[in-house]
Parts: sequence; structure tokens; C-alpha cells
Amino acid sequence: MCGIVGYAGTGTAVAGGPDASERPLEVALAGLKRLEYRGYDSAGVALVGPGRPEAAFAKKSGKLDNLVAEIAAHPLPAATAAIGHTRWATHGGPTDTNAHPHLADGDRLAVIHNGIIENYSELRDSLTTDGVTFLSDTDTEVAAQLLAREYRAAGDLATAMAATARQLTGTFTLLAVHADDPQTVVGARHDSPLVVGLGAGENFLGSDVAAFVEHTKEALELGQDQIVTITPDAVTVTDFDGAPAEGKRFTVDWDAAAAEKGGFDSFMDKEIHDQPHAVADTLLGRTDSSGRIILDDLRIDESVLRSVNKIIVIACGTAAYAGHVAKYAIEHWCRIPVEVELAHEFRYRDPIVDERTLVVAISQSGETMDTLMAVRHAREQGAKVLAIVNTNGSTIPRESDAVLYTHAGPEIAVASTKAFLAQITAAYILGLYLAQLRGNKFPDEVAQLFDELRDMSRKVQTVIERGEYVRATARSMQAADKVLFLGRHVGYPVAMEGALKLKELAYIHAEGFAAGELKHGPIALIDEGQPVFVVVPSPRGRDQLHSKVVSNIQEIRARGARTLVIAEDGDDAVRQYADEIFWIPQAPSLLQPLLAVVPLQIFAMALAGAKGLDVDQPRNLAKSVTVE
Ligand code: F6R
Repeated sequence: MCGIVGYAGTGTAVAGGPDASERPLEVALAGLKRLEYRGYDSAGVALVGPGRPEAAFAKKSGKLDNLVAEIAAHPLPAATAAIGHTRWATHGGPTDTNAHPHLADGDRLAVIHNGIIENYSELRDSLTTDGVTFLSDTDTEVAAQLLAREYRAAGDLATAMAATARQLTGTFTLLAVHADDPQTVVGARHDSPLVVGLGAGENFLGSDVAAFVEHTKEALELGQDQIVTITPDAVTVTDFDGAPAEGKRFTVDWDAAAAEKGGFDSFMDKEIHDQPHAVADTLLGRTDSSGRIILDDLRIDESVLRSVNKIIVIACGTAAYAGHVAKYAIEHWCRIPVEVELAHEFRYRDPIVDERTLVVAISQSGETMDTLMAVRHAREQGAKVLAIVNTNGSTIPRESDAVLYTHAGPEIAVASTKAFLAQITAAYILGLYLAQLRGNKFPDEVAQLFDELRDMSRKVQTVIERGEYVRATARSMQAADKVLFLGRHVGYPVAMEGALKLKELAYIHAEGFAAGELKHGPIALIDEGQPVFVVVPSPRGRDQLHSKVVSNIQEIRARGARTLVIAEDGDDAVRQYADEIFWIPQAPSLLQPLLAVVPLQIFAMALAGAKGLDVDQPRNLAKSVTVE
């Protein structure tokens, strides 16, 4: 939710192209390109350089290309430091004026912001009384004017930033440059992401490491409520009172190529094709030489995990559907009750949580504010929190007791695909680990399940290779205005995820139901030609689930539905009831979501593509939702 990039270099010492003084702008624009998935309502940059009395800036509503065209038409001067912003609008519509940066102090100070400043209206009144005139409707301009007031008092940008941060409530990452100090960028962080990239003769700031990974993989994770100052040769961190503080160094474990489209038409298509690797990489290194499962970065004592009597999974959106799959697997393998709750609902309903509760927070970005707030709340109640997160250096793992990283690599398309498969994989690992630790399964049973899990990567690849039939079906369904999805057991969260993908990407009304619920109401929606996807469980599974779902298909077909069925290879019983059938390889019932969701992802992407929509950046969305 808003992407932020900052750069400080010497303007001469770094060979950044024909003219190194162009590097600040190049770095800012390249960083914004990589961060555009965080928000794309408008974009802007500000530059400062020696001998220039004011900050130079450009900003434009719409996607980054509009800003690039604006700068091509009206070039910006050479510089030594830059800040750049890509916006997901909160206060004030997505106009040129409301775009960041916001200028103050006679255009000598430029500020960008991610988050929401809750007390902006009081501050605005106070500044207006001081004679300040505001140009935009944003909370950010209030922060810029407040910073200008503090700068006039302090004469130093970092001190002024700390004084400003102490007066703000809400969530914020702020970055500022001032014409007086053209080799410095100052940032403040409170409940909003900011990481530092450590270069040679240059340093970087970004909402996440994608902003600078093409320039350096050495990074510094910042804590909450910190001020950071970067110059070409130094990085200084303090708290909001100016006391020295330290960040935590880490090395980014993926390279810039991982964040490129790699020859695919869209990031989403590439990320769907990355899924076999996402599953395999998430499983890598999880067993020791004797085959026992080990979890990295586990800081929760084994005795505590043994005494856990309830697990609550908290997450939002797609990550919450991964949590639903986790519930079925963990309850079955470990016999521990598992609740799954949307993080924003958990936080505000006074949940019953204590020292014997394990809270599992699932998040691709590691920054989702709703999930972060739920993590904090759970820990305040005494629960241990284990995070399943994809993004290194993000906030949720830092604030959790333990972390199980998914290794899906950077996910750039706004709608989640490969992170979902990696989250489910990590949840299976956790389930098997707990079963091993608590003695619910014999070691050879755990080892066999783990082997079956390892084999899923190859099977995901098979589903992807069968994608053309799904695409062709999607292309023929551009006129659909409502699509339903049904599933039972682990097929139910898959149905919900299939519906979410179609809503997000193709803007088609879609709903996922538990197939058994159909007769309790939703069947009234079925009329002639209504497309309904049905996820069919393995015919080899237990509990007659398969025959129950086949009956559900017959019920909807009898009422005119067009049935689009996802079924296992060799499932002859279902063939006769399917108008279209998308085959997936045979797999253990609990692991089937890793396969069954893939045709649904491909369907949504292909249908959106056929309608001419932007599958990587659907309207109104942003990847990392850092506001509540
Ligand atoms: C849907 C999607 C969202 C995210 C949700 C949580 O395609 O991407 O529903 O899953 O916003 O985000 P993270 O996982 O970053 O916490």
C-alpha cells in the first residue's frame, strides 16, 4: 500500500551510466517500477543536488508510465539524492495535486508517505493558524508542513523528523529530502514498512527490498519507531527521542531477475509458472540427515509447543484460505483444534487466547496491517505467535515468536498465486512438525507424508502444462457475469480462492460455497447455463466425500448449471456429469488443494486477459495492505 524509495549517492563516485548524477532519478524510477504493485493511483519523485536552492519534483496521477512521460517531456536536473512514491489513495482522490511528493519550506523540503495520519485534521488546523496554506487534500501534506515547522526550529532534518514523528498518530513511513542537505534522505517508521539497502558509496531506502535489489542484496531491517538517515557513506538509526538504535542486517536471498517477467506476458503468468519451485523451495532444508523435520528460526520452546491446546490461524484474503487448508491438515494430523479467523475480525472481537494458544499468522508481504495488529493483540494476551511469511525483513516475522518462511520468491502480481501454494506447503510442514513433536504420528508416517509433499511440485507442474484447455475454456466465457464455485473439505477453501481470483482479476461476481451448503439456500442461484466450478475430492479418499460431491453436481446439473469440474485423473464416475473437465494428477486428499487451485488461477487470468484487463494490477487494489 504505497511504495516508497529513497536514494543517496555522491553523484560522481558511482558509475551509474553516462552521467552518474542521473543515477538518483534512475534508481528512484526503477525502484518505483518494482514497487508499483503496492499502489498505482499516482506516482512522483523529488530530487535534491548541490547548488540547487529548491527540490526539483514531478508527479502525475495514474500509473508510473504517466510520470515517466512527464519527466521525458520536462526533464529534471542532475541530483545526488532522490525520493520516489507510488500511491494507493487514502486521503484525497488520485489526482496530480494529491500525488506525492508534497513540498514545503518554499519548495526546499519534499516529503513522501505511506500510511494514514489519524490526527491530521488537528495538525492541519494548528498549521493553518500559523499561516500555512494547503494545496492538497492529503494527510501527507500536513506531515510535510509540520516537518518544515520543526526544521525551522531544529535546523537539522533528522532531529526535525523525530520531533514530527512524536506528534503524529496513526501509521506512517515518511521520507524527506531538503535542498540544504543534498546528500541526505531521512526516514521515519511507525507501523509501516521501511528497509535500508546498503551499497558502496550509495545507500537506499525502500518499502521492501524489491526497491533496490538490483543494486545491492545487503540490507538492514529497521525496528518500529525509528528514524533513519542515509548519506552516500553512512546509515544512522535512532529512536524517536534521538537515542542511537540498531537495525538488523540481512542478505536478500533472491536476485533482481526473480522480480522480472522472464518472457511471460504478465507477472501473474510467470508466478503461476513459478509455483512448482515455490512448493519445492519451501520444502528445501526442512529435514535433517535422519529425516526429522526441523523449522528454521524457531524461537518457541518445544515444551511450549507440546502443551498447546488450541491453534488460531489469522490472515486475510488468499492467505486466510491457505489457513483453512491448514485447519483440515493440522486437525487431522495433530488432533489439536484449529480455528481460522480473518485477522481484522479476530482483533476486535475479544478472542479467547492464552499461553496455551498457538497463533499462526499467515502473510505473503509480512506487512498486512490487519494481520500485524492481530499478532500484537495475540501476544498481549500471552499467546505464542508463529508467522508464515514470504518477505524477508518484513514486520510480522520481526514481531512474532517464530517464523517459517515460504520461499516463493518475490510475488509482484497484485493477486496472489504462488504465495498461496507456498503458504499451504508451509502449513503442511508445520502440521507434520507438530505431529512429530507431539507424537501423533510415528516417524515413518511423517517421513512418508513428507515424501508425498515433495512429490507435489512435479504434479503442480503437470497441471500447469495442461493449462491450454483451461485458457481456451476461459476465452469462451467472456460473457459470464456470475460464476459459482463449490467444494467440500479442503476443496471448500479452494472454491473460495477460485472465486476471489475471478472477482479480483476479471471483475466478475463470483462466490465460493461449501457444496453441502448448496441445498440450504445458494441452489436458488442456479438457472439455465449458470457456470459452476466444482472441486471434486479424490475418489480414493475416505468419508464418502467423493460421492457426496458427485451428487451435488447432479443436483445443479438437473437445474440447468453448466458444470466445470476439477477432478483427479482416472475419476470416471464424474466424467458423465461434467460439461468441461480439468484433470489433475492423483494426490493424497489433504494435499489436493496444491493442484486443484491451479486451473482456477489460470482460468481467472485467462478470462481477465481475454477481456483486455490488466491482470497484474487490477483496479482498486494494492498488494500490501498496510492500512486497517
Ligand atoms: C488476493 C490477495 C489478498 C492477500 C491479502 C493478504 O489475491 O493477494 O487477498 O492475500 O491481502 O496479504 P498478505 O498475504 O500479504 O498478508
